[in-house]
Amino acid sequence: MGSYWIDTTDAPVRPPPEGDLRADVVVVGAGIAGLCAARELVRAGREVVVLEAGRVAAGASGHATGKLTSLHGLRYARLAHERGPEAAELYARSQEEALRRTVLLCGELGIDAELERVPAFTYVMDGERAPEVFLEAEAARAAGLDARYVTVTGLPYPVAAAVRVEDQLQFHPRRFLLGLAEDLVARGGVVHEGTRVTGLRELAECRLTLAGGAVVHASDVVLATQFPLVCHSGLMARLTVRRELVVAAPVAAGDAPEGMYFTEEDGVRSVRSAPYPDGRRLVIVTGEAVTPGAGGTGQRLARLEAWAHRHLAGFPGGPAPYRWAAQDVYSADHLPYIGHEHPDTQHVFVATGFGGWGMSNGVVAGPLLAAHVTGGPRPPWTELYDPRRLLPLREIGEVARSQATVARHYMAGFGPPPRCTHMGCELGFDESEQIWECPCHGSRFAADGTVLHGPATAPLERKDLP
Ligand code: FES
Repeated sequence: MGSYWIDTTDAPVRPPPEGDLRADVVVVGAGIAGLCAARELVRAGREVVVLEAGRVAAGASGHATGKLTSLHGLRYARLAHERGPEAAELYARSQEEALRRTVLLCGELGIDAELERVPAFTYVMDGERAPEVFLEAEAARAAGLDARYVTVTGLPYPVAAAVRVEDQLQFHPRRFLLGLAEDLVARGGVVHEGTRVTGLRELAECRLTLAGGAVVHASDVVLATQFPLVCHSGLMARLTVRRELVVAAPVAAGDAPEGMYFTEEDGVRSVRSAPYPDGRRLVIVTGEAVTPGAGGTGQRLARLEAWAHRHLAGFPGGPAPYRWAAQDVYSADHLPYIGHEHPDTQHVFVATGFGGWGMSNGVVAGPLLAAHVTGGPRPPWTELYDPRRLLPLREIGEVARSQATVARHYMAGFGPPPRCTHMGCELGFDESEQIWECPCHGSRFAADGTVLHGPATAPLERKDLP
C-alpha cells in the first residue's frame, strides 16, 4: 500500500526545529495548499515557516491521482442552481486559473512534473442519468469551460453519456510539490518535517505548541491540514471525510485510454494514465469510496482490481503492482473553505473541504490565502470560498446528518474498542493496513497507537483488547 508518486521521488529530509521559533507566518501542512500558500508568502517578503507532521507532499497530496481539472463530477449544474450562474462562473474561472498557474510554475521553476494536456470526462453508464449529464455540460459551458455533451469517450467500454472538457492537465503531484518546496527554501522559507503541531492560540500574536513542548510564535497562521487541527468556528461540523482506494499497473502505451475519467457510479470510478519509465503507461484507477474505519480494504481492493481488469485493456488480473489509498475532506455545500478560520479571527486561516479535487483547489488556495495574510488584492472568488459563508438551507440537513453520525460513533466509543484522542469517537481497525481509523474526522493511528494523520495529535492510550 504505497503511493507510486512517493515511491518514485526522493526528497531531502528537513529536520524538526531544535527549539522555539518565530516567524511572520506559520503554515501547518506541506501539501499542495500549504506549499502554494507558503511560496506566495515568501515571494511577498514574509518570513515563512512550514511545519509538517510527516514528510513533504506525503499526505493527501502524495496519495492523490494527480488530476488537475476544472471538471469536478457534476458540480456546475448544482452550483448554478444553488448559488446562481455567477458563482458557477467564478468557480470555473478560479479552477482554470489554477491550471494556468501550475503550467507557469513548472516552466518558471523548471519542474519536470510530467505535465500532460488531456481532455477530462465525467460520465454515466446509466442511461436514465443522461439528462443530468446534458445539464452539466450546459452549465459547465455557461460557466466558461470548453465543455460539451458526448456519448463516445476514449474509454474502451461504452458509456451512456459524458461531459467532455478540453485542455485539462494531469501530472506527477509529488514532483511538482518537491519542486515548489525547493524553491521555497531557496527563497529563504523554512520547512520542518516530523513536526506535529498540538495546539494553537490566537492572542496578541499566534502561539503554536509542538509535540515535545517547543513553542512557535507567528503573526499569522495558515492551517492546511485537511481537517483543521483547531476549530473554533464549527467548521468541523460542516466537513466529512471519505477514503478511496487506488490501484495502478503499467500497460502497453497503445492500450492506455487518453484523458481523465470520472463517474460517481459504482462507488466512484476514476481512470487516468501516466508516463511509465519503460515507455509503457501506468493506468491508475480509483474507487470504492467509504468512510474511514469501515474496514474490508482487502475485499474492496480485489473488487477494484477485478473491475480494472474487466474494463481496461491490458490491466492485469490479480493484485495490482501499485496499491494505495487517498483520503479527502468534503464540505457540506460542495465548495472548499479557504479564508478566515472563524468570524472573529484576523490571523488564522484555513484551506479545506476540497471534496476530492485537491490538486486544482490546492493551487487556488495558495494565492487566496496569501492575499488574506498580506492584505493584497484578493481574487474575485474570495467570497465564494469564504469559510464564514452561510449554508444554503438544503445543506443544513446534511450537516445535521453528519453530526448525528459523529454522535453515534462518539456514543459507541465508550465500549472496549479504542477511542480516538481527538474527540473520542470509536475507531475501526483496518486489517489490511493494520491501522486504526476514525470515522468522524479521519484521524489514523498505527497499530502501536502513534498518530499517523490528524486532526488527532495525541497517541492512543495503551490498553489490552479482548
Ligand atoms: Fe475527530 Fe477522531 S478524528 S474524533
